[in-house]
Amino acid sequence: MLSKEDNELVSRVGPGTPMGNLFRQYWVPALLSSEVPATDSDPLRVLLLGERLIAFRDTNGAVGLIQNHCPHRGASLFFGRNEESGLRCVYHGWKFATDGTYVDMPNEPAESDFKSKVKAVAYPTQERGGIVWAYLGPRATPPPLPDLEANMLPDGEWQANATMRECNWLQGLEGDIDTSHLGFLHFRARDPGQTAANTFDYYTVKERAPRYKAIDTDYGAMYGAYRPAHENLNYWRIAQFLFPCYVMIPTYVLGLQVLARAWVPMDDEHMMFFGMSARSRRAAPNPARGGTLPTRTGMEKLPNSTDWYGRFRLVADARNDYLIDREWQRSRGDYTGIAGVPTQDQAITESMGPLLDRSIEHLGTSDVMVIRVRRRLMQAARALAEDGVTPPGVDHPEVYRVRSGGCFLPDGADWLEATAELRKAFIEHPELDPAMSGGQA
Ligand code: FES
Ligand SMILES: [Fe+2]
Repeated sequence: MLSKEDNELVSRVGPGTPMGNLFRQYWVPALLSSEVPATDSDPLRVLLLGERLIAFRDTNGAVGLIQNHCPHRGASLFFGRNEESGLRCVYHGWKFATDGTYVDMPNEPAESDFKSKVKAVAYPTQERGGIVWAYLGPRATPPPLPDLEANMLPDGEWQANATMRECNWLQGLEGDIDTSHLGFLHFRARDPGQTAANTFDYYTVKERAPRYKAIDTDYGAMYGAYRPAHENLNYWRIAQFLFPCYVMIPTYVLGLQVLARAWVPMDDEHMMFFGMSARSRRAAPNPARGGTLPTRTGMEKLPNSTDWYGRFRLVADARNDYLIDREWQRSRGDYTGIAGVPTQDQAITESMGPLLDRSIEHLGTSDVMVIRVRRRLMQAARALAEDGVTPPGVDHPEVYRVRSGGCFLPDGADWLEATAELRKAFIEHPELDPAMSGGQA
């Protein structure tokens, strides 16, 4: 549990809050490049860290991220004309470049120097791996982007996607570092006979109460969850938390899995999940796994609308109880009766409410990583607020060069030593057999 004060501290990210200031030390994923698909394409409403912003791609291809309210008299720049290297407010024609400077003020006399005196709030952006990154922080020269392998792959080898979730960002993130829910929320209706023998899936279902190790790292925190496997081996799931809001989950093979999952706050009660990964090189799913509803993946999305909350919404949501199929749930066809692993996660974290009061919790052994990550975040936010300490990773992009995944280790092996090479990013491991995962998604 957390005290109400600590819960507020760790959850809220608006301008001026301790956690909001912490986020503003880093570059954060703001939108997909595909949301501003072409030069001079439509402006886009983007809600980020509690700030209402307008994204636009100018005539030269640069992406601007500018304050919603025109600095002249507050009209929304969403209605602006994206034309000739700038966004023009349609109320009185003031025009802004992507960096917020005025390129035209047609209702001011030509001799006026007003133009050089005022500037719109506009945040620096960079594009990489299908993501438009934004820096909302105080430095005149922003720090480097984090070396997240999944976002640094050559064109044609990466994939990036986004899904909005209607709850606080930390609720979403905590679901990703809570390894024991896999055997329940997602796999509870299965028995080992429905999985390929001696795979990760098999042992996940066979032993649903793993033991844990968790440590602090220079980029955040890492856990290893282990349970018995065959021939004196243990099945280890090793996952990463990286400041301020990334998780690398351990569903696939350590050494082969290349992904990063970003839980980016839109405001305190909405977040945008960004998934970044290598295009799948996985073994084909095992048909014996079963367990998902036959007719839908659960990941179908509504068409995006231009609303602040209109981007990347699932069809299955709280308003339709995530299209739960009670008969399917009752018949043990699927534990939840909700189609799709990500939708099951979405349903359950949203069901906690838009911003969970964590003073009601009773945390157990399986929550060690959740506890550790909260502590890391709160310590870093306080150190920044009280002593001006730059939080982990901001000036050290290289610390992000890590991987997550599963592996088999001999009983009694030192898990850190035994996995040191496998946890390094940007290394090929042709010797590893992808089939050992059993096909976990
Ligand atoms: S309000 Fe934008 S130009 Fe006047
Ligand atoms: Fe999950």
